[in-house]
Amino acid sequence: MTEQKSAKIKIENLSKIFGPKADSLIPLLEQGMDRQTMQEKHRHVLALDNINMDLAENSIEVIMGLSGSGKSTLIRHINRLIEPTVGSIMVDGENVCTMSAAALREFRQAKTAMVFQNFSLLPHRTVIDNIGFGLKMQKKPAKLIAERCNYWLDKVGLNGFEQHYPAQLSGGMQQRVGLARALACDADILMMDEAFSALDPLIRSDMQDILLGLQKEIKKTIVFITHDLDEALKIGDRIAILNHGRLIQQGTAEQILLHPADDYVSRFVADVNRTTVLRARSIMSVQAKAPAANENTVTVLENDTIQDVLHSMLTADSFNAVVTDDKGNTVGRIDSDMVAAAVNG
Ligand SMILES: Nc1ncnc2c1ncn2[C@@H]1O[C@H](COP(=O)(O)OP(=O)(O)O)[C@@H](O)[C@H]1O
Ligand SMILES: [Mg+2]
Repeated sequence: MTEQKSAKIKIENLSKIFGPKADSLIPLLEQGMDRQTMQEKHRHVLALDNINMDLAENSIEVIMGLSGSGKSTLIRHINRLIEPTVGSIMVDGENVCTMSAAALREFRQAKTAMVFQNFSLLPHRTVIDNIGFGLKMQKKPAKLIAERCNYWLDKVGLNGFEQHYPAQLSGGMQQRVGLARALACDADILMMDEAFSALDPLIRSDMQDILLGLQKEIKKTIVFITHDLDEALKIGDRIAILNHGRLIQQGTAEQILLHPADDYVSRFVADVNRTTVLRARSIMSVQAKAPAANENTVTVLENDTIQDVLHSMLTADSFNAVVTDDKGNTVGRIDSDMVAAAVNG
């Protein structure tokens, strides 16, 4: 079961029009003018169109969409690098859009940290100085900076590299520095805009694993932007799909695969390997009839993927699985027909 988590960030009726006369177009926006018409008739870009979404604490919240769908525009509203045309962003119940300049500065420092696609490291500073850069700007005591830097250096696996310069490191290692720098700030919200997109596939996969491992400890609100569906499915507790500035669907990987909101999402997920995403609990039957005494059954966990279930069945030469929760209680049953149906969608 997924636990209920409370909203850290609430995005309400958010629209963004880029262009010199954006405000004068608000009435047209309210009448429902779409992006294409706004572009053709008024030469303004409707980058975000009435977005409403919650981003939960202790969660990796992925925002996914093709290039130009509005992902960067959306994330940059969270720390108000971009001002909304309409709508609001609430963080911990406070409206970011109405904060004074001083309050905004304090908010950005205390609550947000960013990891950038191009790493954005200072080339003439060592790894350890790069990690501590944010803390130094915040005028934290040297002892605290040193402690935190060494802690996060170790956590991202860069021990021994503290005196290296960015140019001496591979892309993957540079992004570990970027991650350590963001984590050293100890902000509640970690914002990652295509942070792994510039990395080679194997390195990228390593970084995804590092982030997933770290999140078990740090339990932050991670807003993770990607245009890569596999990355989204792998690391997102939930995934929000944007298309042309609209939020099409937000849900877990399973919810999106099993109940795509529209044709766009269906087409998007059509080629996904469902066996690695869907879990036993979402395909099992809860009307459990007791197995016949001579029936060969295996036991699987409700959280196992279909691939795990299939593997268990094949190795035991069995057509039936009993599904249990993590306390060992039986919660359902799966037979080979149900596995086949799930695989074929
Ligand atoms: N400063 C800007 N001025 C005008 N148009 C912009 C600006 N920033 C982004 N856009 C447009 O807004 C749309 C969404 O862009 P963006 O948020 O960068 O998308 P994504 O990050 O998903 O690729 C695009 O059509 C882009 O060209
Ligand atoms: Mg972008």
